[in-house]
Amino acid sequence: MKVLVTYVSQTGNTKKVAEAIYDGIDEDKQIMDMGEATGLDEYDLTFIGFPIVQFNAPEDVQKFLTTSTAGKDIALFMTHGAPEDAGPVSDWISTIRNLAKGANIVGTFNCQGEVSQKIMDMLKSSSDPQMQAFADMCASGKGQPDEAKLQKARVFAKDIISQKKAWTE
Ligand SMILES: Cc1cc2nc3c(=O)[nH]c(=O)nc-3n(C[C@H](O)[C@H](O)[C@H](O)COP(=O)(O)O)c2cc1C
Repeated sequence: MKVLVTYVSQTGNTKKVAEAIYDGIDEDKQIMDMGEATGLDEYDLTFIGFPIVQFNAPEDVQKFLTTSTAGKDIALFMTHGAPEDAGPVSDWISTIRNLAKGANIVGTFNCQGEVSQKIMDMLKSSSDPQMQAFADMCASGKGQPDEAKLQKARVFAKDIISQKKAWTE
């Protein structure tokens, strides 16, 4: 089985998760920035990762999911500033899954990722109370993803691979 891990990461959180996922895979595997991924045809399974930006995937990732995943087995992973159990997180994931509706989505993994100081300062100094509330919500993400989250990502990768093997055997 040939597996690709491809990701977008602005401040390094999603990259850490991507590397943990890559680490958890014992197959023929490659890891690359999404900007380097030309297509998924040569892979049996692709893990696609990105940060949540304005309640969705970044625009380049939205385009990739819409145009390059049809008919493919993919697993999605994402990091976000909000805690995992924050209400809207599952809505964001549904929106994103819908972009890749032509693909076979074999699993999703998401975890909190520290929001950069620059963005936190901007949110806190905003006159919009919703932005300030969002900053408070993200404060619990300091130091994330931590080793426990990265271990969950490794286990996620292993589970997906064994499921895929079970289907194809
Ligand atoms: C411009 C911008 C918009 C963001 N929007 C959201 C958001 O809508 N929801 C959320 O939970 N986190 C949001 N975040 C926080 C990031 O998703 C989070 O810090 C993520 O772990 C960053 O991943 P990266 O280091 O791989 O870029 C935003 C961050 C930035 C910079």
